[in-house]
Amino acid sequence: MFLLRVLKLRKLLKLRKPKQTLINPKADGKPRTALITGASSGIGEAFARQLALEGYALILVARRQDRLTKLADELHQLYGVQIQVLAADLAQATEIEKVAQKIKQTENLSILINNAGFGFMGEFAETDLAKHLAMISVHITASVSLCHAALPGMLARKEGFLINVSSIAAFFPSHPTYSATKMFLNSFSEALQTELTDSKIRVQALCPGFTRTEFHDGPDFKDWNRSLIPSKMWMTPTEVVRESLKALETSQVICIPGTKNRQFVALTRLPFAATFQKIVRKGRKVLNQR
Ligand SMILES: NC(=O)c1ccc[n+]([C@@H]2O[C@H](COP(=O)([O-])OP(=O)(O)OC[C@H]3O[C@@H](n4cnc5c(N)ncnc54)[C@H](OP(=O)(O)O)[C@@H]3O)[C@@H](O)[C@H]2O)c1
Repeated sequence: MFLLRVLKLRKLLKLRKPKQTLINPKADGKPRTALITGASSGIGEAFARQLALEGYALILVARRQDRLTKLADELHQLYGVQIQVLAADLAQATEIEKVAQKIKQTENLSILINNAGFGFMGEFAETDLAKHLAMISVHITASVSLCHAALPGMLARKEGFLINVSSIAAFFPSHPTYSATKMFLNSFSEALQTELTDSKIRVQALCPGFTRTEFHDGPDFKDWNRSLIPSKMWMTPTEVVRESLKALETSQVICIPGTKNRQFVALTRLPFAATFQKIVRKGRKVLNQR
């Protein structure tokens, strides 16, 4: 009787586990495509490498077409998969629309990875508003628009994975616009998965911590002191991607790769979180000094 009530409650709360797991196209011979934004370097490139190895056709999106073409040629040579390159600046509404149209025209899109993103240092009031608005466009507008474009096809085919690349910065206030956009992606992904509980679509908000990519290489991070971050806190993009794809086999929406990152986020959830936030704020100021 008690068990029956629990089962009914689970159904009511739509808490049933999604049964979908990542399918290797080589295993069942059915062509599948993955579209990855921000595939010209870092985590996006690592996703492209792993999914090409698994036999997925790819659509690679970013601004640097030369980098995408080089990667596409290499992966085609290595694995023989079909790879298309689509240059787009996701800070521009018309360019987001171009990618959305591509998604709608792709008949077998199985995986969408909204990974494109960037950061910059500096106090909110002292930095150019255009940079904050571009970040909102790349992190939020593009991700929401592309999920919206991909979902009808995925629902019709009863198969699909939406991965929105967020950050552990979603769990504490570091950079205001960066943290807020990543918090949006977590909340959006969780609510979307709840809405899709009865479907076969899996949604993930991937929250990496410090990852060795080009993220901190640009002029915007020239005053950032990377050496103050302990080497144990850094992961490689390949490690991040491996944990993300593995987590798709579970029902968890929020995926925090790396034990250290999970411990770090757990600290922000404890009763002394307010003190921890103060330490983070102080740390941010120190990191910003040479
Ligand atoms: N590295 C970290 O420590 C870290 C930690 C937490 C979360 N993340 C998140 O991980 C994701 C990937 O970053 P990453 O670490 O791999 O950094 P990355 O090596 O700098 O890669 C960022 C990618 O985003 C693309 N991109 C940036 N702005 C774009 C725009 N306006 N339009 C289209 N594409 C754009 C870049 O391509 P183009 O320049 O060619 O356009 C590049 O392919 C981001 O969402 C980031 O917020 C990174």
